[in-house]
Amino acid sequence: MITQQVLIIGANSDIAKALVLQLRENKTIGLILISRDVNADDLLYRNKKNNRVNIISVNDYLSQSIEHAIEELATYDHVPITRIFICNGILHNQSIQPEKRIEALTVESFSEVMISNALTPMLWIQHLMPTITNNSSCKIIVFSARVGSISDNRLGGWYSYRASKAALNMMLKTAAIEIARRNKNVKIIAFHPGTTDTPLSKPFQKNVPENKLFTCEFVAKQLLTIVENTSYDQRASYLDWQGKSINW
Ligand SMILES: NC(=O)c1ccc[n+]([C@@H]2O[C@H](COP(=O)([O-])OP(=O)(O)OC[C@H]3O[C@@H](n4cnc5c(N)ncnc54)[C@H](OP(=O)(O)O)[C@@H]3O)[C@@H](O)[C@H]2O)c1
Repeated sequence: MITQQVLIIGANSDIAKALVLQLRENKTIGLILISRDVNADDLLYRNKKNNRVNIISVNDYLSQSIEHAIEELATYDHVPITRIFICNGILHNQSIQPEKRIEALTVESFSEVMISNALTPMLWIQHLMPTITNNSSCKIIVFSARVGSISDNRLGGWYSYRASKAALNMMLKTAAIEIARRNKNVKIIAFHPGTTDTPLSKPFQKNVPENKLFTCEFVAKQLLTIVENTSYDQRASYLDWQGKSINW
């Protein structure tokens, strides 16, 4: 019997897919997956017998699409949502490359990276506030990155991506303070998975030592353990794949 639900946003992320496969092993968990790209792989997530996996498809991550998804989510909220994973993030795409030099910075790519990596996760949290504050407890895990740490920046480069994750971290700290006033049993985690073998890191893997390039399965397992071991302390944590704190 399902006693709790886990919401995974940006479910087409390779790390998100590994999370889904591991969470599916627990028969008391129902999964709700939100993504722009519900492809055949995702359909395999469905467990037709007991329907423990529901998929909400969005066209994009604009406010209106998020609102529609939240309306659809309301039809599934008869069992409490106790975990929310927000996996969205871009580093490169057909028109964007991380900047090696300040000369490469453009309004267009900076705006797109900021919106995808910093604003989109916060819009989800904004629209999920009734779920977050009315439920007895909830842990919210948002995928950040170590390069978003201002104090850890020794290498430079990647202006937009770094700035977007630093902005995300600041907003998560801010949201944790506000949410703590409304519900003490909410935990927010800004998570750094480490360099993980996904399409996002593919073009940048050649200088990564073999033992430092993680599989999605490994990262998902680490993350699920970290989430269970984290307490409700009314503040945001910035944690890496080992569960170690990163300086903001
Ligand atoms: N892989 C690494 O080495 C690494 C390292 C540090 C941090 N991270 C972070 O981990 C998270 C997951 O990344 P991944 O490695 O699993 O990458 P991935 O497989 O390439 O997944 C990309 C994710 O970004 C979403 N996305 C793509 N375009 C978007 C857009 N324009 N607006 C909003 N969301 C968009 C996708 O959502 P759909 O489901 O809708 O496609 C999906 O959730 C990201 O936040 C990334 O920054 C990854």
